[in-house]
Amino acid sequence: MGITNNPLVCFFDSGIGGLNLLCESVRILPQVDFTYFADNYRVPYGALGKEQLKEISRKVFLEIEKLKPAAAVIACNTLTAQCIDYLRGEFSFEIIGIQPAIKPAAEVGGRILVLVTPATAKSQSLMRLSEQYGEGRTTVAACPDLASYIENNIANLEKSKLIELLPNVKADAVVLGCTHYIFASEIIKNIYNCPVFDGLSGTAAHLREKLGIYDHRQTRAQKITFIGGNTDKNRDIFRTIIKRTVL
Ligand code: DGL
Repeated sequence: MGITNNPLVCFFDSGIGGLNLLCESVRILPQVDFTYFADNYRVPYGALGKEQLKEISRKVFLEIEKLKPAAAVIACNTLTAQCIDYLRGEFSFEIIGIQPAIKPAAEVGGRILVLVTPATAKSQSLMRLSEQYGEGRTTVAACPDLASYIENNIANLEKSKLIELLPNVKADAVVLGCTHYIFASEIIKNIYNCPVFDGLSGTAAHLREKLGIYDHRQTRAQKITFIGGNTDKNRDIFRTIIKRTVL
């Protein structure tokens, strides 16, 4: 274990949700170091307004800038929907976001249910995405308490509670438009009895493309660091899910 010279990619989410995307990215980019910024005690970001989200993310991005990253990933649909254009205007490094996977969900045919936070539901970017790929078959449902429930009960997610927090509608495909919801993916699939879609593999592949790194051999130790919020919790959850992905 020595000093590494891997390129650095910084991630940012309100809380644990973005760990899903971090995990997918770590897996396909073994030659990259990652730093995960979070703000767990302030979840849910989905309840905040655009100006507040811009202010919060600007402060975090000023910290990210100091680390001279090869790229930053907004591992949060809410921040991507409300702030990515603003952040790209303010910072000169590459910024990648995550968006609801409406395009692949539309290929299933039938009714597409898009589950998002209230702030994402109000965004123009989601409206544009639905118009572009939803073929007039999307229902957008804001779930005000779902991200907080998952953030605070990650070790013990209950199907009955999730049913209470989710819209009672029929769907042929469900889009998980918040990275927190991905932790409940299997239960949500079971509740609606249809395929569920998240933006994980598409966003991680996009990151790899932007970095132009396709070599799967690990030549140096890979460093993964956690900053902000509840770092112990984020590290523990990351370790649990990365084991699951690798096995
Ligand atoms: N994980 C975030 C997202 O993807 C938001 C959760 C929150 O409301 O804090 O939208």
